[in-house]
Parts: sequence; structure tokens; C-alpha cells
Amino acid sequence: MNLTELNGIATAMVAPGKGILAADESSGTIKKRFDAIGVESTEANRRDYREMLFRSREAMSQYISGVILYDETIWQAAGDGTPLVKLIESSGAIPGIKVDEGTQALPMCPGETVTVGLDKLAERLKKYYERGARFAKWRAVIDIGSGIPSMTAISVNAHALARYAALCQAAQIVPIVEPEVLMDGDHDIDRCYEVTSRVLNETFQELRVQRVALEGMVLKPNMAISGKKCAKQASVEEVAEKTIRLLKACVPAAVPGIAFLSGGQADEEATAHLNAMHKLGRLPWGLTFSYGRALQAAPQKAWSGKAENVAAGQNAFSHRARMNGLASKGEWQS
Ligand code: 13P
Repeated sequence: MNLTELNGIATAMVAPGKGILAADESSGTIKKRFDAIGVESTEANRRDYREMLFRSREAMSQYISGVILYDETIWQAAGDGTPLVKLIESSGAIPGIKVDEGTQALPMCPGETVTVGLDKLAERLKKYYERGARFAKWRAVIDIGSGIPSMTAISVNAHALARYAALCQAAQIVPIVEPEVLMDGDHDIDRCYEVTSRVLNETFQELRVQRVALEGMVLKPNMAISGKKCAKQASVEEVAEKTIRLLKACVPAAVPGIAFLSGGQADEEATAHLNAMHKLGRLPWGLTFSYGRALQAAPQKAWSGKAENVAAGQNAFSHRARMNGLASKGEWQS
């Protein structure tokens, strides 16, 4: 493992003014997104849509540091035969790959899951590296509800995240470690804070046990935020203040960068939260976005599967990327 190089990549992923485009929706998830805009989820349509994003020159060269791809996409080529990975590289962004294989029910723990995909991961990482991937992503999912999460779910997911992260670093790939505490549910922000704190502490404990170099990784957490169905929604300032307090308490300064998931927040809300965090003073790590929905909802709607809407889709994507780029420096204004 060359840690200096891994640290350089991780640092570039969270460079001020830039963030990560999470375009790694599984076939099932992208079908849901396409259903919402009346587009059939064929391989060609998925390719055309992602090609539109990756050819958005302004967004990709100025505000996007890296793109997380799904397995299908990393092997696809654009309409003119250029591999999509090459389109991303030529804009100056770093290609990355989602390597987990989704969640499975966790035995003995009703309603909880564990993320799978460790089998043959070392071999898969080697192929992805050869194709150009320089970072990877693995998402663990923790749900808040009555009696959950259990310590079992937190522990097995943290263990798998650390196993994945160590395998990535051995393959000279920067791991994005994503322990997502879902914002579905009616819990308040303090319950989210408390659960996320337990999840992050357990995750870093496992990373240390499994000898993952913190200098060569990026953390992708949820924010401390009210559950979607909670009657009392925390303000932007409260989300920013509690999220930063939580991260300072749980994330060692050796970690070069933190890049948030949007998790179902409205587009502008996700931007406002990141911006407000940067208003709170200097931080020990780079802090930016790794948004899926909050970057893509607008371009998906503008595009709606029609070739004549490609420019409109690219404009919508560039706008959200620019706004989040500004927020990553605390310079966004509503
Ligand atoms: P959202 O921003 O839509 O939550 O997606 C980010 C992601 O990569 C989740 O794994």
C-alpha cells in the first residue's frame, strides 16, 4: 500500500469547492428514479442519462471531484465509443466504484440488515483498478425504530465496512466508508445524534482493529437530522451545529475528508445544511457533499429521457453542482 498516494486521492476528493457525484444507483434504484420521470430503464437509457451527466463540462470540471459508478456503468461506453470512465477522467474528476452488493436480512434481528459483498472482493477491486477506479464505496444501512438499531446490527455492519476498507487499501483504492443512519421514521434529531454517534464510534473502532489507515479513507456519513416523519423538524442551524459537534466527537482528525450523503433531503436543504456547517469555523477535515438524489433529481426531471432535453438536463445538473460547490466553502446564498 502506498499511503501517500491514497492520502493524495482522498484529499483531492474533498478539495474545497468540489464534491462527489454519487451516480451509483443499482439497477433497481435507477429504475425507481426513471419510473418517476416516465423513462424505461433499459441499458441504453441508463447509459444515455449518465453520459449526459458526465459530459456536463462546467459541473464536471469545476465542482465535481469524483464520480461513484455502478458496475454496469464502469464497463459502458458513450454513444461515440469513448468509455464513460475516460469521459470522467478527461474532465479532471476521479472515477470510483460502488462495490457492496446490497443488504440482506440480518438473522435474529427482525427489521435489520447487513451489507454483503466481501466474497471475491479482492479480485473485483483488482479489475476495477485496472479500469481506472481510484476509490470505492460500501454502504451500511442502519434504521432507527422501536427497539432498533441493535448492537448486533451496528457491530456486524462496522465489521464488514472495515473488512472492505482494508481490502480497498491493499488494492491501492481509497475506501469511502458509508455507515448510513436512515432519516426515515419519526425520531427527533437528538435520537439521530445518539444513534449516529454509536455507529461512528463502532465503525472507527473496527477500522482501527483491522488496521485501516485513516489517512487513506473518506467517511460518508448522514447528518444529524430529524426523521422525515418527526413533527418537530430541526432548523438548518441546529442540524449544522449538532452535525459538526457529532463529527468532532467521533471522527479522528487523521481522516482527510468527510462527504455527506443527502439521504432524502430536499435539494436546497442539503445545500443549506452543508453551507451552514462551514459557517461554524475551521474544521479538522475536508467537508463536502457526496450526493445522489440532491444532485440528480433536478437533471432527471429536466431530461425526462428526451434527447432534445440534454442541454436542459446538463444545466440543471451544473446548477446544483455549483450551488453545492459554493456550500462546500460556506459561500452559498439562498
Ligand atoms: P443520496 O445522496 O441520494 O442519499 O445518495 C448518496 C449515496 O451514495 C447513498 O449511498
